[in-house]
Amino acid sequence: MLSARATEDAGMRRPYARSTRHNAPVMPGLVIVGAQWGDEGKGKVTDLLAERADAIVRFQGGNNAGHTIVRDGEEFKFHLIPSGILYPDKACVIGNGVVLDPHILLGEIDGLRRRGVDMNNLKISANAHLIMPYHVLLDTAGEVKLGKLSLGTTRRGIGPCYADKALRLGIRVQDLLDEKILRAKIRTALEPKQQALRELSVQRRKLRKEAGEGDRESVEQAIEDAPDPRIDLHTMTEEHINYGHRLEPHIADTARLCWDRLDAGKTVIFEGAQATLLDLDHGTYPFVTSSNPIAGAACVGAGIGPTDISEVWGVAKAYATRVGAGPFPTELTDELGRHMLEKGHEYGTTTGRERRCGWMDLVALRYAVRLNRMSSLAITKLDVLSGLETLRVAVRYRSREGALLDSFPYHQSILHSATPEYDELPGFDEDITACRDEADLPPQARAYLDYIADFVGVPIRLVGVGPSRDQIVWRPEGA
Ligand code: GDP
Ligand code: IMO
Ligand code: MG
Repeated sequence: MLSARATEDAGMRRPYARSTRHNAPVMPGLVIVGAQWGDEGKGKVTDLLAERADAIVRFQGGNNAGHTIVRDGEEFKFHLIPSGILYPDKACVIGNGVVLDPHILLGEIDGLRRRGVDMNNLKISANAHLIMPYHVLLDTAGEVKLGKLSLGTTRRGIGPCYADKALRLGIRVQDLLDEKILRAKIRTALEPKQQALRELSVQRRKLRKEAGEGDRESVEQAIEDAPDPRIDLHTMTEEHINYGHRLEPHIADTARLCWDRLDAGKTVIFEGAQATLLDLDHGTYPFVTSSNPIAGAACVGAGIGPTDISEVWGVAKAYATRVGAGPFPTELTDELGRHMLEKGHEYGTTTGRERRCGWMDLVALRYAVRLNRMSSLAITKLDVLSGLETLRVAVRYRSREGALLDSFPYHQSILHSATPEYDELPGFDEDITACRDEADLPPQARAYLDYIADFVGVPIRLVGVGPSRDQIVWRPEGA
């Protein structure tokens, strides 16, 4: 049965507001995207730009994301909840394009409540798909099966959940409100997975037996740690009905919430998770996530039109990192990479894994700028580069056959064997974590930023000089 509130919500709404945008001041739909391989500092930039927004919307991905905000020395890590939640007066939306693990979300809500954060403004799309326990198991099973070829996913069930969505076997947030539908849908979704789940169960038993006989690989450990694969329909349904009761006050018509604000000339921020080079269509496939983290996907994942978007901000680190497997042309596997890892605290926000580190890749960044049609860039973690005598930036690749490539290769075999060619710029020694004005930055740091902006053709409007929200340097428009 649909609850009284859901029925009322669906039937008693006023007609869509007439758009006044043609004579309203340009107040944007603003999209924030990762310009590299993730963890660029999107959470911090979203928190900063949200100051002038009315709503903040996540439009893709799930709890594979980990977005950090540091305010007054207090650290917050968000996995599903938009990074605007610390403002009590702004709507924070989990859009239809997100895949949502209700158990994780409720944990995140409870955790934030305990820290005194007001959660009343959290709105969840009824159309968002649910990551079910079997998705998490299948993610792990898939990785184990791939062995050495594994992608290094976050094992949060992202891929299997998006696969079910495309197969039309997905369970959506709205299904939590109707026990009969929920039970039937779980049964139908589970049916084709029984074989894989049985295999996993056998594998687990085998691994458990082997466990006594020596050291296990970390992937095997993960299977051991995974929940019991005997997934019981009744228990799962009961559990999810309970989740539904708890989430119901937050479930809303979130596309309409965006339209109402955009049509009234208010600012809505669409907060990307993951990043351009992890995009399912445009990233380094198959070493990608299972959604589209690029700006265009904000339309589908939130239910807005392309002309609702007037600004696209890309976030990039002053160097590059990647977590998980896949090509990374500028990767440094030497002492310098280790230095960046340690100085930049490059450990995954979600999984704690070490991030691979390397030089800024301007070939890849220029590709990301164009794919997202970025209007501005935020460069974070410039402080991490201080103390290096020389800074290198990749400006082209050389293919295995010796050809020079100015643009990001679309063929994966070329990318996998491409080697970067670098330009060198003078480094800076000063600690810049206390700089707040562009003029405070050492001239070499400014030259480095100018070089990046010139190369990719987009202004750098914001520079991060430390993790805290006040450790930033704003640069004037048009700089
Ligand atoms: P996101 O996934 O893009 O939101 O990024 P993460 O939160 O996963 O990772 C970025 C990390 O860098 C977090 O620990 C941030 O607190 C930190 N950070 C963000 N901006 C800066 C900066 O300008 N300097 C330094 N040193 N750390 C930063
Ligand atoms: P935020 O939003 C960095 C990576 C995983 C793996 C690949 C596929 O914090 O920047 P998945 O679990 O999505 O199927 O894994 O994508 N990955 C991320 N890397 N930051 C993220 O999110 C990521 N989300 C997924 O490491 O290589
Ligand atoms: Mg992150």
